[in-house]
Amino acid sequence: MKNIAVYPGSFDPVTNGHLDIIKRASRIFEKVYVAILTNSSKSPMFSVSERIDMLERSIAAKGLTNVVVASFDGLLVDFVADKKANVIIKGLRAVSDFEYEFQMALMNHKLLKDVETLFMMTSNKYSYLSSSIVKEVAKYGGNLDGLVPEDLIPEIIQRAVQVNKK
Ligand code: PNS
Repeated sequence: MKNIAVYPGSFDPVTNGHLDIIKRASRIFEKVYVAILTNSSKSPMFSVSERIDMLERSIAAKGLTNVVVASFDGLLVDFVADKKANVIIKGLRAVSDFEYEFQMALMNHKLLKDVETLFMMTSNKYSYLSSSIVKEVAKYGGNLDGLVPEDLIPEIIQRAVQVNKK
């Protein structure tokens, strides 16, 4: 059986913490789908096509040829079944992530018996990092070095400043 993983999220924008998980998952699984949720209740800073583009560029820069970026709406398990995947990957940063992720993992397993959620511990150096915190820093002109891929920094700062002016 092929082991195919789905790594879901909002990726608004992708961070170095996400890319660390993607890179490590790509070493374990034959194929990894990075799945961007399109119908989130959160109002995103970047459109889905912008997020796909940012992820694809960052993944290509790392030479990860078994990673595919896609978007989905509705239930994650429907996307997982459609791609014939058997694993959902989630990154865990701190104990505070655990309770919600545990609930989601159990619900996803109830909805689709054949899927397992695997948690990967975020690398120590990214344990404080999230897309929200990146947007907050960018909004006030803070330094994003080391937080997101270097070539994405100008577009993230530009958008955050624009949004902050509105
Ligand atoms: O990066 P995020 O915003 O924390 O990602 C959350 C995401 C997309 C993984 C989660 O909201 C999700 O899986 N949404 C799809 C709806 C779903 O299947 N929910 C779980 C069963 S109720």
